[in-house]
Amino acid sequence: MRFPLYRPRRIRQNENFRRMVRETSLSVNDLVYPIFAVTGKGIKKPVDSMPGIYNLSADMLVREVEKAAGLRIPAVLLFGVPDKKDSAGTGAYDENGIVQQAVRAIKAEFPEILVITDVCLCEYTDHGHCGLVEGGGVLNDPTFDLLAETALSHARSGADMVAPSDMMDGRVAAIRKRLDAEGYTNLPIMSYSVKYASAYYGPFREAAGSAPQFGDRRAYQMDPPNATEALRETAMDIDEGADIIMVKPALAYLDIVRLIRDSFDYPLAVYNVSGEYAMVKAAAQKGWIDEPRVVMETLTGMKRAGADIIITYHAPDAARWLKEGF
Ligand code: PBG
Ligand code: ZN
Repeated sequence: MRFPLYRPRRIRQNENFRRMVRETSLSVNDLVYPIFAVTGKGIKKPVDSMPGIYNLSADMLVREVEKAAGLRIPAVLLFGVPDKKDSAGTGAYDENGIVQQAVRAIKAEFPEILVITDVCLCEYTDHGHCGLVEGGGVLNDPTFDLLAETALSHARSGADMVAPSDMMDGRVAAIRKRLDAEGYTNLPIMSYSVKYASAYYGPFREAAGSAPQFGDRRAYQMDPPNATEALRETAMDIDEGADIIMVKPALAYLDIVRLIRDSFDYPLAVYNVSGEYAMVKAAAQKGWIDEPRVVMETLTGMKRAGADIIITYHAPDAARWLKEGF
């Protein structure tokens, strides 16, 4: 591989050469679109820190899903933003809760698009933590029942897959056991297996009104400097029955994506989180970057790092640009 015998530029000289030797490709099949559901009717409330993203009541949300389905996006990921919160997050497992209603509304009109539901308590608890709180700490095992109950109620509403994002130890097993006991043996679990305590979730917490009211999530989400721990977290979730594993956030953790890809033969999702989206949108609005090119380069980088599935707020835009032959 010595110059002048080898000239890398030979197979880079035009688009057809580049297409022929391209190693990674992004497809609409890879995308999952997150959506925020609120109670009420006719509501489409913009999330200030996430331009293009809204809090949507079930009727409006169905129109957003229609758009996604029309673009052939295979799945949406639902989050609920309830108007009432309490210490046990009862809204999370209420049969008529916001996510449960939204799932039914989507399934009634668009039964084919996959509806994935985020399973967590932080949007529903008045303290904003992902589990039950006692004495200023978040309880692990006592939270299992509530998470399992939440997953089960999502399943009963017609969800196609549940995605626990709480980071309690052992919750995948608890959810799997409960789903199986109730006959949902075929309902897959996409586990937030490697989820870091990240500052990149800021805009999401505005969208979902889920910022912790005291302390932070560092005692249950992973410490950002750690990598080998990601192997243990993932192995654990797979042992407990996770069907799809995940690394979150994406951009600052692409080394972890590659590590997990090379270590486990399971479908791997990455979550291109709210803060990553907000940064791109803000710079694009200022005219400082070329948004479509930056978004496609970013999402392609996630695939190149080893992701099979990309959960991203850019999904409809990316799907459109892919369709246009980007
Ligand atoms: C809830 C949850 C969060 C996100 C997904 N599920 C926030 C958090 O853990 O604080 C973040 C998503 C994003 O930032 O886009 N546990
Ligand atoms: Zn949570």
